[in-house]
Amino acid sequence: MSFELDEIDVIPESWTRSHLLDLESLSTEEITTILDTAGRFKEATHGCKQKIDALSDHTVANLFFENSTRTRNSFSLAARRLGADTIEFSSSGSSLSKGETFIDTAKNIEAMNVDVVVVRHATPGTPHLLAQNIECSVISAGDGPHEHPTQGLLDILTIREHRGNLAGLTVALVGDIAHSRTARSNIWGLRKLGAHVIVCGPSTLVSRRWEELGVEVAYNLDDILPRCDVLNLLRIQFERQYTRPFPSVREYALLYAMNGDRMQRAKDDILIMAPGPINRGVEVTPDVADGPHSVILDQVTNGLAVRMAVLWLVAGARER
Ligand code: NCD
Repeated sequence: MSFELDEIDVIPESWTRSHLLDLESLSTEEITTILDTAGRFKEATHGCKQKIDALSDHTVANLFFENSTRTRNSFSLAARRLGADTIEFSSSGSSLSKGETFIDTAKNIEAMNVDVVVVRHATPGTPHLLAQNIECSVISAGDGPHEHPTQGLLDILTIREHRGNLAGLTVALVGDIAHSRTARSNIWGLRKLGAHVIVCGPSTLVSRRWEELGVEVAYNLDDILPRCDVLNLLRIQFERQYTRPFPSVREYALLYAMNGDRMQRAKDDILIMAPGPINRGVEVTPDVADGPHSVILDQVTNGLAVRMAVLWLVAGARER
């Protein structure tokens, strides 16, 4: 079953971006436009199950140069829910191994009359580079440790759904802040919407310099826990590290894993979040990940709505 776009809305005049490269450069109003659009898509499509005839003459290419489960599949499903065709590119098995450059690869995909390119790459700034070199819309699906804008947006949408308003909430990002693109996008988005953000983890992964972004830096989870409305538990990104940042995973879990004991000392209505993939027993124990305070799978559901909204908004701005 599908229905027409005007049942949803028209793109607001104030939305002019044909790319989504980061949350740092977005205004509070632009972030709110994406969240509101995602909310309307979710409501009108009954949790995004029904198709909307919005991008039926469009082609969306997913260019993934890093592994992905949630982000890739939800971008792909979001495009199809909007009626678009999709191209699925993975670096493994492609002509990159034959010496083709990143830009040439993208230009060749674009030559298939593609309208929107979704890109994930290990190198920070890759989406920005692509936006300067190809004509179609570019959406970042994560560039190395820099930013992961749609993850930040879906995290914020999930908090907003459960709490109504971000202003005045205390949100702690716990774990590998140094290598987390999720952390950076959350910080930009949450701060613009008025939340108080704490970054917490071992000193080898959380520098004091994060205070320059207007966040509180903490090294002891038990100290900050009673003040937190939301915990976003970040994975230790071993694949981006050259040396071990702590003596053992077991020691890390003792100090920073959210477990049943710590839940006893948290606020009664605390929200437990994680971008996924979760490493059970490292940043979160199974009883907490699967417990009543966990909204980890709500985040995944909201990822689909956010990606539908972003695809629709950037494609619409490009046509305008
Ligand atoms: C995150 C990522 O890839 O940056 N995952 C995701 O997109 N859902 C976080 C992570 O890999 O830990």
